[in-house]
Amino acid sequence: MKSREIHLTQHFTGPVKPDYFEMTEVDLPDPGEGEIQVKNAWLSVDPYMRGRMIGIKTYVDPFRIGAPMEGGAVGQVIKSNADGFAEGDWVMSMNGWREGWTGSAAGITKLDANLLPLEAYLGVAGLTGMTAYIGIKRMIELKEGETLWMSAAAGAVGSAGVQFAKAMGAHVIATAGGAEKTAFCSEIGADAVVDYKAVDDLAGAVREAAKPFGGVDTYFENVGGDHLQAALDVIKPFGRIAACGMIARYNDDTPLPGPTNLTQIVAKKLTIRGFIAPDHFDIYESFVSDLSSWMMAGKVKTRDTVFEGIDKTPEAFMGLFTGQNIGKMLVKL
Ligand SMILES: NC(=O)c1ccc[n+]([C@@H]2O[C@H](COP(=O)([O-])OP(=O)(O)OC[C@H]3O[C@@H](n4cnc5c(N)ncnc54)[C@H](OP(=O)(O)O)[C@@H]3O)[C@@H](O)[C@H]2O)c1
Repeated sequence: MKSREIHLTQHFTGPVKPDYFEMTEVDLPDPGEGEIQVKNAWLSVDPYMRGRMIGIKTYVDPFRIGAPMEGGAVGQVIKSNADGFAEGDWVMSMNGWREGWTGSAAGITKLDANLLPLEAYLGVAGLTGMTAYIGIKRMIELKEGETLWMSAAAGAVGSAGVQFAKAMGAHVIATAGGAEKTAFCSEIGADAVVDYKAVDDLAGAVREAAKPFGGVDTYFENVGGDHLQAALDVIKPFGRIAACGMIARYNDDTPLPGPTNLTQIVAKKLTIRGFIAPDHFDIYESFVSDLSSWMMAGKVKTRDTVFEGIDKTPEAFMGLFTGQNIGKMLVKL
């Protein structure tokens, strides 16, 4: 089998450019002992990948130059030389950014293609959904009747989180960029929505939106920058914040000064808890159990933005930083 794959050409800071990616074609070897050959069907692109392009080790190693990049992928086994894997099985791996691969079956998860659409394993039923769940359940410990402000609420984590919070009986204020996105946030159950691109005073707009619900008790941080500044201003004393991501800062050339109102953390006695989802796999069973019952009750809808073809993977990735997606950003092969 031949496979086209995307390599990173250099490590970089600043905005992502198409030149930083190149596509190459390779011949895949037959699987050796304990190995499988897989044809990928769906690839995930995620904001955290930007951190792996800088060339500095953070909580995960940088991408290697001239080697296939990695990321979540769902594919079908074409050839198997590994116990427990047969031709036709659907699997999830981290061998994304490529059409196919031959490699060890160790650590590869088999998927039930009858239970859910395959792409959902990269979205609401995968690490994306689990991230929203960890933030809300474990970091914020959201309670029924409280008000959550969800930022980047029309995105993958955000839209899952809006619906999880509603299913848990909370009020949700959603912020997102543009009319189509705010309409989507209402559709999935947000009690109030703010188009942050259409307002001059984000804090004021969120405060107003949250008034009928007694103000903002908790904040789910996906954006950083002006959103964090506004959240510190708006949140009530003893507020809890889940620091999940700060996408507005990932393409900075040099780190910008942070919010100017950090004293609010002290004055309001706030709790801010940062987290990285893979540290919390012990929550998986509880996540699957809650998600299953919410899905069966019709409380969780999904929507994806899909680019088609391996050559579109860089474009899909870059689109995350210009807000091209509603729901999970995926590449279909
Ligand atoms: N901690 C963890 O383990 C973990 C795991 C997964 C994801 N995350 C984080 O969670 C956040 C959401 O990830 P996701 O996968 O669900 O991506 P996503 O929200 O589906 O896509 C990114 C969205 O971010 C918004 N955005 C991009 N640049 C922005 C800017 N400069 N200012 C404001 N908004 C901007 C855009 O929405 P608008 O058009 O609405 O602006 C865009 O659609 C990211 O910060 C990511 O790093 C963390």
